[in-house]
Amino acid sequence: MVDEVKAEGKGRRVLWQDSESLAFLSSGRKERKDFHIDPSDEVTLQLSGVQNLVYIDSEGKQQTAVIKAGQMLLCPGGVPHSPRVEENSWFIVFERKRKSGEQDYFTWYCDNCGEKIYHVAVEVGDYRQDPVSQVHQRFYDDERLRTCTKCGHTMPVPPP
Ligand SMILES: [Fe+2]
Repeated sequence: MVDEVKAEGKGRRVLWQDSESLAFLSSGRKERKDFHIDPSDEVTLQLSGVQNLVYIDSEGKQQTAVIKAGQMLLCPGGVPHSPRVEENSWFIVFERKRKSGEQDYFTWYCDNCGEKIYHVAVEVGDYRQDPVSQVHQRFYDDERLRTCTKCGHTMPVPPP
């Protein structure tokens, strides 16, 4: 299936979104920097390559969980996490389908000084509409949103 999704030129595909759960296959995003706060648990099954899941622990410190091919990791609901992938990283993520009105959050911190520069709440709704890409597009399309008010650094747009 990875080959099929690669052939489509896409980096992800929703496998199902039914009953109480959803699952998607993904190759991650290049130079991903935002932290996602999901109200539901997320279970990652790494199929190939390596994923460095950077997360913020209960004391506010950044930690990294390295997930290698064949390994699984549970990221509990509410833990801010940022999947940073290496070459040829493919993985499946299992999540709970969100309830109506439930919100996910996305936060970017300044590369230069660490200040929180953008924080947004979204109802992700239908995963097939790729809500995460929509949030990323809004952020990267607007230079004001990605410019730090504390130090003036502008976050660069990641490669396509
Ligand atoms: Fe800054």
